[in-house]
Amino acid sequence: MHDDDEVSVPYDMLGSRFVTPLFAAVTGWTTQIVSSADVVHVDSVALASLPLPFSSRTFANPLYIASNVTGFASHDYTDSCNAFHVYDAGLAAPILGQDPQIKLMVYEPGYAFANEAPVYFPDEQSVYFCSDAGGTLGRSNISFNNVVFRVNLTSVLAKLDNGTSTSFKMDVETVAIDSGGVQMTNGATNYQDSLLLINSGRGAEYPPTLALVDRETATAKVMLNNAAGKHFNALNDVVVHPKSGAIFFTDAWYGQTQGFRPYVDLPLAVWRFEPESGLLTALTDPSIIAVPNGLAFSPDGTKLYVTDTGPIYNGTVQPTPSRAASIYQFDVQTDAATGFQRVGAKSVFAWPETGVADGIKTDTAGNVYVGTADGVSVYTPMGQPIFKAFMPQSGAVNLVFAEHGRLIVTAQERLFIIQLNSSITGPPIWDYPL
Ligand SMILES: *[C@@H]1O[C@H](CO)[C@@H](O)[C@H](O)[C@H]1NC(C)=O
Ligand SMILES: *[C@@H]1O[C@H](CO)[C@@H](O)[C@H](O)[C@H]1NC(C)=O
Ligand SMILES: *[C@@H]1O[C@H](CO)[C@@H](O)[C@H](O)[C@H]1NC(C)=O
Ligand SMILES: *[C@@H]1O[C@H](CO)[C@@H](O)[C@H](O)[C@H]1NC(C)=O
Ligand SMILES: *[C@@H]1O[C@H](CO)[C@@H](O)[C@H](O)[C@H]1NC(C)=O
Ligand SMILES: *[C@@H]1O[C@H](CO)[C@@H](O)[C@H](O)[C@H]1NC(C)=O
Repeated sequence: MHDDDEVSVPYDMLGSRFVTPLFAAVTGWTTQIVSSADVVHVDSVALASLPLPFSSRTFANPLYIASNVTGFASHDYTDSCNAFHVYDAGLAAPILGQDPQIKLMVYEPGYAFANEAPVYFPDEQSVYFCSDAGGTLGRSNISFNNVVFRVNLTSVLAKLDNGTSTSFKMDVETVAIDSGGVQMTNGATNYQDSLLLINSGRGAEYPPTLALVDRETATAKVMLNNAAGKHFNALNDVVVHPKSGAIFFTDAWYGQTQGFRPYVDLPLAVWRFEPESGLLTALTDPSIIAVPNGLAFSPDGTKLYVTDTGPIYNGTVQPTPSRAASIYQFDVQTDAATGFQRVGAKSVFAWPETGVADGIKTDTAGNVYVGTADGVSVYTPMGQPIFKAFMPQSGAVNLVFAEHGRLIVTAQERLFIIQLNSSITGPPIWDYPL
């Protein structure tokens, strides 16, 4: 912990710079700029010993305010409580920059339109993402597919800067993908010029797939839809190795727990797929990760991070907090002669303070950004907590860097932009060797 005097981060208490949300319900909802965000210091020493008596916080309860800030009851958790909670001021300052912000870009109450699969394409300055597959606010189920959307950042950010309202109807464009192989999309990444989607599948007829979508035509080509003739369970998230171009992805079981997929007799696993050779390799099994979810590489590709959503193992019953909810780190091993890869040593990288960790990304310096039940937690490459973008009303499902310090966050009924120091960005995406 550094002294406050050493850094230029403004330490305001929550409340001093709140902008009152102004919502206008006309046709659907429109959203006006909701909050800039304060930066508050976490007093870890004081928090280490809470005043007695106190009740233990429950699994998903976001009410733990890891800062000096007090006085917020649960009903106060509006979007204007969003703030940066800083654990290490010296580490946070260069990432946050002079004027860090958490802004609501689009809000559509009652529809989890922005759940997963955020991908940014610099040539379009647009972000793609998908609606919830099978959740209560997803408007999708065994009979109805979820939807892939696109938002033009240039246009939406101009509106936010201008104080002009945004809305789901006006600012979120449906990407009508031409393939039955794209059912219940849950993850995505850039793949050269194309959009690589990972899909959970729907019912017994549409298996989970990896599909490559041409952005011009919105036509999809299915690259993978089975493991030696077996359906995957419910494919979840995908990333491409920065050096080999191999596709690493996770298979979870949320299709089954949410009632839109049958159980298939494959262990939940992290997999690796070489599109050119067709080689498919299992990298983990449930003895290594219970329910693999989000995944990301360090910028040099030597480390793989995987979030484990082990406690959420059955959509019909309460989470089991004793099961693993770690963010794991693996060494990535590469055979110098063949380029074949597997994962080696595993260790616990971090533990999410609230709920489970979901989507995960790294910046060019190797810092790790993770979506959790109460916001985006940021760690050094060693796993030391730097700060949390505290978003208690929505949490953060998944996230992606756009350029110029912009971090786009999908949070179910909300799409956010977190503005960091403009030098912060994700690793380059155009240099896959294929
Ligand atoms: C947090 O609490 C500590 C100890 O009471 C105090 O020194 C510090 O100034 C407080 N920080 C803020 C941002 O109020
Ligand atoms: C923002 O990043 C630049 C480039 O790394 C750095 O020079 C600058 O000091 C950072 N801003 C703050 C406020 O630390
Ligand atoms: C399935 O989703 C559709 C579209 O949102 C909805 O109209 C329908 O009621 C849902 N069916 C069930 C059984 O939930
Ligand atoms: C995004 O919006 C801007 C400003 O309205 C427009 O100039 C640009 O063509 C749009 N980009 C795409 C890919 O539609
Ligand atoms: C900016 O606001 C003005 C006045 O409300 C409006 O006429 C204009 O269309 C807005 N521009 C954008 C890009 O939203
Ligand atoms: C989930 O819970 C239900 C109800 O308790 C039970 O019938 C089902 O077998 C459970 N499924 C799994 C995968 O644990």
